[in-house]
Amino acid sequence: MSAQRDILPLSLQGAGYAVGGKRLLSDISIRIPAGRRLIVLGANGAGKSLFLRLCHGLIEPSAGRRIWASGEARAEAQAMVFQRPVLLRRSVAANLDYPLALKGLGRADRARTVSATLDRFGLTAMADQPARLLSGGEQQRLALARAWAMRPQVLFLDEPSSSLDPSATRIIEEMVGQFSIDGITIVMSTHDLGQARRLAEDVAFLHRGRLIEHRAAPEFFAGPWAPEARAFLAGDLIW
Ligand SMILES: Nc1ncnc2c1ncn2[C@@H]1O[C@H](COP(=O)(O)OP(=O)(O)O)[C@@H](O)[C@H]1O
Ligand SMILES: [Mg+2]
Repeated sequence: MSAQRDILPLSLQGAGYAVGGKRLLSDISIRIPAGRRLIVLGANGAGKSLFLRLCHGLIEPSAGRRIWASGEARAEAQAMVFQRPVLLRRSVAANLDYPLALKGLGRADRARTVSATLDRFGLTAMADQPARLLSGGEQQRLALARAWAMRPQVLFLDEPSSSLDPSATRIIEEMVGQFSIDGITIVMSTHDLGQARRLAEDVAFLHRGRLIEHRAAPEFFAGPWAPEARAFLAGDLIW
C-alpha cells in the first residue's frame, strides 16, 4: 500500500454553497489542522450539516475553494458519520467487514480488524446480530466503530448523539475521546452546548450560514466576541 499522505490541514477559502439561487453557506474561510477536536456549534438551521458535507466533499462549493494539504480529496483518508446511522441489512460484523473489503483489505486482515474493532467498542457479543435490530445507541456505536476501523485521518461527525438518551450519548462522547487519543482529527457538529463544552478543543460557531467565530474552546466559552454567540451561550433562542 502506498504511504498515506497527510490530507490535513483542510482549508476553505471564501467558500459558499447555494441551491436554486439561495445562499445557504456564505464566505466561509477556515483552516482545520491535524490532531485537534473541532466542534461546529450553532442553532438548528445554522448550516452545520452543510458545512460538514462541504468539508467532507459530499457537496461542492458554489463559490470559493476547498483545499486539502494533499492537493486532492482522498476518500480513504476521511470518514463521516451521520445523525442517523446508515447501516447495511446484515450482521454487525458484516457491517464492519464490508467497507474494509471495498478498501481492498484481504480476508485475514479484515477478520483481524473486525475482531479488534468489535472488542475495542464492546460489540463482540452482538457480532452476529442483524445491525438493524440494535438499539439506536448501539447502531450509532457501530457506525462510529465502522468509521474508526477505516483508520481515517479525519472523521466528520454530524450530531452523532442528537437522537440518543443521556447514557448512549455518554458512550458516543467517550468514543470520540478515544478517537482523539488515536490521533484522528475530529470535526463534529452539535447544537448541544453541554456536549460542546465537554468535547471541544476548538469551536467554530455558525450562524445563518456564516462562520461567525473560530477560536480555541477555553477562549470561546470564556467570552465570545459575537453577539449571536453570546446569545447562544446565554441560552437565548436565536435563528
Ligand atoms: N438542499 C437544500 N435545499 C434547500 N435548502 C437547504 C438544503 N439543505 C439545507 N438547506 C437549508 O439550509 C439551512 C442549513 O441547513 P443545515 O446545514 O442542515 O443546518 P443545521 O445542520 O445547522 O441544522 C437550513 O435552513 C436548511 O433548511
Ligand atoms: Mg444538521
